[in-house]
Amino acid sequence: TKIDILVPRAMRDVVIDGLATKFNLHKTYEAADPKAAIEAVAERIKGIAVLGAKVDADFLQQFPSLEIVSNFGVGYDNINAVECGKRGVMVTNTPDVLTEEVADTAIGLLIMTVRELSAAEKWVRDGNWTGKGSYRLTKGTLRGRTLGILGLGRIGKAIALRAEALGLAVHYHGRSRQAGVEYPYHDTLEGMAEACDTLMLVAPGGEDTHHLVNAEILKALGPDGVLINVGRGTVVDEAALAQALADNTIHAAGLDVFENEPQVPEALLKQSNLVVLPHVGSASVHTRDAMGQLVADNLSQWFEKGRAITPVAETPQKA
Ligand code: GLV
Ligand code: GLV
Repeated sequence: TKIDILVPRAMRDVVIDGLATKFNLHKTYEAADPKAAIEAVAERIKGIAVLGAKVDADFLQQFPSLEIVSNFGVGYDNINAVECGKRGVMVTNTPDVLTEEVADTAIGLLIMTVRELSAAEKWVRDGNWTGKGSYRLTKGTLRGRTLGILGLGRIGKAIALRAEALGLAVHYHGRSRQAGVEYPYHDTLEGMAEACDTLMLVAPGGEDTHHLVNAEILKALGPDGVLINVGRGTVVDEAALAQALADNTIHAAGLDVFENEPQVPEALLKQSNLVVLPHVGSASVHTRDAMGQLVADNLSQWFEKGRAITPVAETPQKA
C-alpha cells in the first residue's frame, strides 16, 4: 500500500500527478472543510508536501506518524524547522535547481529598476512614441555601481558572478566572512550600505532577518541608492521604504517579494521610482518542474532509503 502524504495547498497538476504515481495523496485543499479533512487523515500521514502553507508547532502536533515535510521552494520560513527537528521530523527544501533562474530574475529586476525599463515600456504601449519624440533620459545607470549582497549563499553567489560580468563591484554581508570568498566583507549591514549604492537582498525570512532593512539602512545607502529584494518581503520595513522612495532618500527600488503577499501596500505602489514583480524569481515552467521533481524525490528517497536529498540545516542530517 502507498504511503499517505498530505498536500494542504494546491500545486500545479504536473507536480500533483508526479506525487500521485508513488504516494496516496490527501489533497485537503479540495475539501469543503479543509481543517476537518486534515483531522480525518492526520493519524496516517507520514509526509507533507507543501507549497507556501504554514507548518507551525500547532499544525505539526496533529500528525503522530509524521516523518518528513518536503517543501516546494528554497525558502522555508513557512515551516517551523526547529520544532520539526525536536520532533525528529525531517524537513527538505528545493535548493540548486532554482539558483540560476532566481539569479537571472534578480539581475533583470536590477536593470529594470536602474534604467526604468518598465516605465519606458509602458510609455510605448500607451502610444507615446509617435508624436512625443524620444523618451526622457534616466538618471540611473549601472556604470560604476557597487553591489552589496545580503545573503551570499548559492543564489547570492550566482548573482555576484553576473554582477561582476556587468562590471559592478561586489561586496557582501552575512553572519560571518566566508572562507575562499574574495569579495569585500562587511560585518554590519549598515557598514555595507555605506560602502555600496546598490543593495541586493537574497536573505531568507524569519525572525533573524525581520525588518533588517529599515530607515537607517536606506539612509546609509544614499540618494543614488537602489534596493533590490528577491529574498523575503519580511526583510524590509515597507513603510520605511515607501517613505525613503517618496523623499528620494534613495533613488529607486525593485521588489519581487513583499511582507504580506499578495498584498502590496498602497504607500509603495504610489511611488513611481519602484518596480514590482509578483514573486516570480523561480517562476519558469522549467525550473518549477525541477522543483516539483525534487519535492517528490526527497519523499521517495526518504521512504525508500531513509535519507533525504536536500535536508535543511535545522533537522537531523541522517547519513
Ligand atoms: C507549483 O507547482 C508551482 O509551480 O507553482
Ligand atoms: C521562492 O521564493 C522559494 O523560496 O523558492
